[in-house]
Amino acid sequence: MPEARLRLKTLTVVAGAAVALIAGCGPSLGPSKAVSQLTPQESRGRALYQQYCASCHYANQTGDLHGPSLFAMYRKKYLPSGAPANDERVTPVILRGHNTMPGYGNDLSDQQLTDLLAYLHTL
Ligand code: HEC
Repeated sequence: MPEARLRLKTLTVVAGAAVALIAGCGPSLGPSKAVSQLTPQESRGRALYQQYCASCHYANQTGDLHGPSLFAMYRKKYLPSGAPANDERVTPVILRGHNTMPGYGNDLSDQQLTDLLAYLHTL
C-alpha cells in the first residue's frame, strides 16, 4: 500500500515537471522600448505610427485590431504573413500596402519612412 502511494506521488512530480518544461519553452519577448527612452528619430516615427498605423495595429500588445499586432515585429523571425521580418520586406508593405492594408507611399517622405521604420524596430 505505501509503495503504491509513493509511485503515485512520483508520477505527479514527473507530470508537473513536464508541464513546467513545456510552459517555459515558448519564446518570452520582453516589453517594447519605453517611450521615454526613444531617440528623437524614433519619437518622430512614433508620431507617424499614431497618425497612420495605430488605428489598425496594436504596437505594445498582442492580438488583432484591423490588422495583426506589430508588437515585437522585428524581434521575431517572421511577419504575420510568414515573410521574413526585415526592412526589405516591410518597406513595400508600408508604401504599397498588402492585401486589405492600404499603402502610404503618397503620404510619407523618404525621411518619414526612415523614421517610421526606426520606431518599428523599438517595438
Ligand atoms: C486600414 C487598416 C490598416 C492600416 C491603417 C495599416 N495597416 Fe498594416 N495591415 C493591415 C492589415 C489588414 C494587414 C494584414 C494584411 C495581410 O497580410 O493580409 C496588415 C499587415 C501589416 C504588416 C504585416 C505584413 C506581413 O507581411 O505580414 C505590417 C508590417 C504592417 N501592416 C505595417 C503597417 C504600418 C507600419 C502601418 C502604418 C504606416 C500600417 N500597417 C497601417 C491593416 C492596416
